[in-house]
Amino acid sequence: MVTGYWVAGAAAAGETSFEVSHPGDGSSVGTAYFATEADVERAVSAACASVRRTAASPAHVRAAALEHVRTRLEERSEEFARLITAENGKPLFWARAEVARSVSTFRWAAEETRRWSGDLQRLDTDPGGVNRLALVRRPPRGAVLGIAPFNFPLNLAVHKLAPALAVGAPIVLKPAPMTPLTALLLGEILAETELPSGAWSVLPTTDEKAAELVGDPRLPVVSFTGSGPVGWGIKDAAPRKHVTLELGGNAAVFVHEDWTERDYAAERIATFAVYQAGQSCISVQRVLVHRGAHDDFVPRLVRAVESQKSGDPFDEATRVGPLIDEEAAERVERWVDEAVAAGARVLTGGVRRGSSYEPTVLTGVPDDARVLTEEVFGPVLVVESVDSADEAFRRVDDSRYGLQAGIFTRDVRLAFRASAELEVGGVIVGDVPSFRADQMPYGGVKESGVGREGVHAAMTDLTEEKVTVLAGVEV
Ligand code: SIN
Repeated sequence: MVTGYWVAGAAAAGETSFEVSHPGDGSSVGTAYFATEADVERAVSAACASVRRTAASPAHVRAAALEHVRTRLEERSEEFARLITAENGKPLFWARAEVARSVSTFRWAAEETRRWSGDLQRLDTDPGGVNRLALVRRPPRGAVLGIAPFNFPLNLAVHKLAPALAVGAPIVLKPAPMTPLTALLLGEILAETELPSGAWSVLPTTDEKAAELVGDPRLPVVSFTGSGPVGWGIKDAAPRKHVTLELGGNAAVFVHEDWTERDYAAERIATFAVYQAGQSCISVQRVLVHRGAHDDFVPRLVRAVESQKSGDPFDEATRVGPLIDEEAAERVERWVDEAVAAGARVLTGGVRRGSSYEPTVLTGVPDDARVLTEEVFGPVLVVESVDSADEAFRRVDDSRYGLQAGIFTRDVRLAFRASAELEVGGVIVGDVPSFRADQMPYGGVKESGVGREGVHAAMTDLTEEKVTVLAGVEV
């Protein structure tokens, strides 16, 4: 597979190629091209030139385009799933789930486009506002630079593209260099639509070029998903831009002793600690078990982790594939070994084979071990017992991250306390922190980022209120 890229809605061929390889065995998946200097300039100037035209394009045209992409993506879903598995290494099972989510993200975006209207606000609440009415609209802030990560090569690119197109904001999307092919394939479908020219481009760039784009004033909005250091670097480099950051986490879940469906909780935690080999920002990393449930729960959890079949991601039965590359697996190995040297016990796993790391459960991990304090982004979870909900909440929040947290409890008051008190962007009651529906607001506090994605939330984020006051009217 040899793939060019997309400049202002049209196919373009590059000059400097790079290989995309399968994380499992290093075999070649395809050749992609870095956009040339001239093509990057064409994409940015076309986006900038089409800001007004794209914003003014009728809602039905944008909704129809998004609807078309949804339909075509659904028709070609197996092709997309296989490409995701090939370039990212996630098992087909999870790649298909990702495609299904992307279909739904586009569907939501089409629906939200038709609803996106603004508000009327009466101003006669004080004598000075009598006979005045405010019309509050939300036009786009301007053209968007979207930077997508490798861990969801399709859906996290779609979370940049679909809301931007829904509000009529032109977007230049930079896919992750390790997994660019899926987003480039999506370009084939986008190119079938009637979207205004200049409304979208998808182009791989070098890191240096991406840094230049971050500084380019013609792209006043940057929406980034990826690592903390890169994300915060973008925010520091572009303080006058509107920057949205979806960064990492070390998600925790609390299992209260009142939760009697222990096999269910164990199965959910095991699945979402190791899915995509742990390469999700909300994969379960820290498990806090109420002391009364601990001895009964932990063996169930270990069994559930061991039942997650590792292996060839193209095998239908496989649930855990390789990490993105061998370097990533070596880092996970190093962090686990460090924890073990400091006194942690391995309840299962703890072995690396090339770019794969066995699903691993640790306990007795010292508080300052990196498997607790950092984002592991690997199939590793740490289980500990806690004496009370207070202690669990304290430990959930004992993190520089704050993306999502989960709590298994039947106590509705405790659930509401968790929702009110935990320092995270989302609290999932009765399930793992890894639950995400694509229409719900998604994002973090603390070092996990700023701003929210999720179709409607991202549409709000990419736009700014603009008020028009009508004087001398009947309210
Ligand atoms: C992420 O890794 O931040 C995205 C998680 C998801 O979309 O499920």
